[in-house]
Amino acid sequence: MQTILTGIRSNSILTLGNYLGALLPMVRLANAHSKDSQINIFVPDLHSIISEVDGDLRKNTIRTIKYYFAAGLELNDNVHIYRQSHVSAHSELCWILDCIATMGETSRMIQYKEKSKGSESCNVGIFNYPILMAADILLYDATFVPIGEDQFQHIELTRNIAIRFNNRFGDIFTIPAKTSDQIKFMGQDEGIRIRDLLNPEKKMSKSTMAENSKIMLDDAPEKAAKKIMSATTDSEGKIKFDMFNQPGISNLLQIEALVNDRPLQEVINEWAGRTQYGELKKKVAESVEALLRDFQAKLATISDDDILAVLEKGEKYANEVANAKLLEVQKAFHLR
Ligand code: TYM
Repeated sequence: MQTILTGIRSNSILTLGNYLGALLPMVRLANAHSKDSQINIFVPDLHSIISEVDGDLRKNTIRTIKYYFAAGLELNDNVHIYRQSHVSAHSELCWILDCIATMGETSRMIQYKEKSKGSESCNVGIFNYPILMAADILLYDATFVPIGEDQFQHIELTRNIAIRFNNRFGDIFTIPAKTSDQIKFMGQDEGIRIRDLLNPEKKMSKSTMAENSKIMLDDAPEKAAKKIMSATTDSEGKIKFDMFNQPGISNLLQIEALVNDRPLQEVINEWAGRTQYGELKKKVAESVEALLRDFQAKLATISDDDILAVLEKGEKYANEVANAKLLEVQKAFHLR
């Protein structure tokens, strides 16, 4: 059985970008494939501590897992949910992969460059981040890893590390699919990058200070709608999907398609040539408002105890699978 795996950090409340770029695609894939695939959903809480955590990490983690259920995740025996820090094989494999990956390839990671800002006082965890991510993926032989576009470089690094390892030791790891195949598997034409509402050149991010630049999943639905209404557009005067020249309008079309689970091209065709930006904003604002209303109502019905029970089962499974893979790797190095 193939494995589909993803993780979202729980440093704070998530944004609509996390939701549409990673969480919702994973929920849709999980519900469509959980009869014929293993579905692994985990919270990379060790990745969280590379930077400051907003609030209590354990509570944030429980909340992030609730988000999956509020987004419609259906449970069955092939769906496994766990915390990275509760499966120690992740950290152990990370060290071993550190001895396979090179400084050169790891230094080229865009996220490392952005987060370290070239400063020598940046913590080593920021540098090592993608190697731990490779361990997260390779321990479970995952083929598909639904993620937003900003993480594709880490998937390519994971593939390179796995290929190098297998060339040296034999076929121990499943090589995850290429990013182009990941995108196809997610049913997209290109990777998803939801843009900052005020500055659509940039991605929507939890860490941006300006309130109106991002929609948080706990925003009051009417407030979120207002943020969409005040999104930056352009002066072209024509609705067209063109991320380069019209990133604000293109972002709204992308959000409209994802929220309503419609093909992007269909939404683009529907609005092509129309000139009233206000009408498009109104439609997207209504879609986002309805989404948040439904999501938040479902979220309120899920208890912490429900989640703790799911985690107990998931972590038992994850430890079994991950320890078996780790043992193969340890044997390859004659550590066992
Ligand atoms: P994190 O928590 O930074 O991001 C979680 C997911 O949200 C996506 N994302 C976006 N997608 C579209 N538009 C945006 N504006 C946007 N902002 C965030 C990210 O691409 C990501 O998919 N390193 C991972 C966590 C991780 C992981 C893994 C993922 C650790 N180990 C193993 C998959 C497999 C990350 O970026 O988390």
